[in-house]
Amino acid sequence: MPRAVIVGSGADVPPLQVTNAMLARIMDTSDEWIRERSGVETRYYVEDGVATSDLGVGAAEQALQAAGVAKDEVDLVVFATMTPDHYFPGSGALLQKKMGLRDVACFDIRQQCVGFLYALQLADAHVRSGLARTVLVVGAEVHTGFMPWTRENWKYLLGRGDVPPTPDEHAWNTRFRHLTVLFGDAGAAVVVKAMEDGQRGLIDSELHTDGTDYDKLYVPGTGFKHRPYTDPEQFARGDHIPVMDGRYVFKMATTRMIEVAQRVLERNGVKMEDLAMVLMHQANKRINEYCQKALGIPDEKVLHNIERYGNTTAATIPLLWDESTRKGSVRPGDLVLLVAFGAGMNWGATLLRA
Ligand code: ACO
Repeated sequence: MPRAVIVGSGADVPPLQVTNAMLARIMDTSDEWIRERSGVETRYYVEDGVATSDLGVGAAEQALQAAGVAKDEVDLVVFATMTPDHYFPGSGALLQKKMGLRDVACFDIRQQCVGFLYALQLADAHVRSGLARTVLVVGAEVHTGFMPWTRENWKYLLGRGDVPPTPDEHAWNTRFRHLTVLFGDAGAAVVVKAMEDGQRGLIDSELHTDGTDYDKLYVPGTGFKHRPYTDPEQFARGDHIPVMDGRYVFKMATTRMIEVAQRVLERNGVKMEDLAMVLMHQANKRINEYCQKALGIPDEKVLHNIERYGNTTAATIPLLWDESTRKGSVRPGDLVLLVAFGAGMNWGATLLRA
């Protein structure tokens, strides 16, 4: 039976680098707090008007090039994002059009920080069943659309204007500081090919969803539970901005990531020394340090990039993959474990041979 093998990857990180000190221009926060609590030092933002599908295209073009795969070989697209360009259609269709791909099926999936693991499993299932042989798997996010700042505040933050926030604006921005300081924009993609050598490829994947506590991390407004689905009252209340119970998410992330990683390793008889690398979702460096310690992973088998990019949701794992393979920390034939937790709540672990 064929297996899904990652044969190339690419990343598109926008050029606008934003430091913690820049964020402190428009809200009550500090470089020290952000670094200490989350590990984030900088993040990258798109310019207004650049969309998730644009970052997806940049990453996918690079991934195809790295894989030596032509566009017309792609017979399936899976696009994971929680920040699509439009309510509909999904970003997969827009990526298909912008890249000039054939009219193949394009899935848009919404599993937030675990989106890439869900996307890989979907790709693998299509490959194993013979429905697809060359799949483009994309994770991309433009989180800046969530930032609740006025245009003037944006200019002040970026050093493009000299009007500081009013006291009311400053208080409004501060209300969302626990969330806004964590996120950055980025896209990353891999090309997955069906291979029959029985060695390389996705070996096992365990995915979970538990919607019980969906409201610990969600967007309360701008959805079709409301009639109309968006209105000025929702904006005035801030219901278009995600709500996050950070402490709860922190606790669940550490518990679930450790459990699922252990189960996947045990089920496959894999020991820590067999793994070349463990790539964990980048939501908070402290979450990952906790998991690393509990799982007994040596430092050289873990890669963090949250300090540079912040949390890029569906893009974190393919970004890490791209970085690891380009640096040579992951080489063809290496065993790698991917682990993630996020809104939904969703979590999972994927074991594969690069
Ligand atoms: N700057 C300064 N102070 C802040 C900031 C900030 N940016 N944000 C919050 N604070 C303050 C709070 O107001 C609070 O002040 P108080 O004690 O006077 O009330 C204090 O800092 C502590 O706040 P906590 O929320 O308890 O801080 P905590 O140590 O838990 O860190 C954080 C917050 C970073 C959000 C952490 O809880 C976390 O990372 N949680 C997990 C996030 C996550 O994994 N999200 C999932 C991924 S996202 C996705 O799936 C879409």
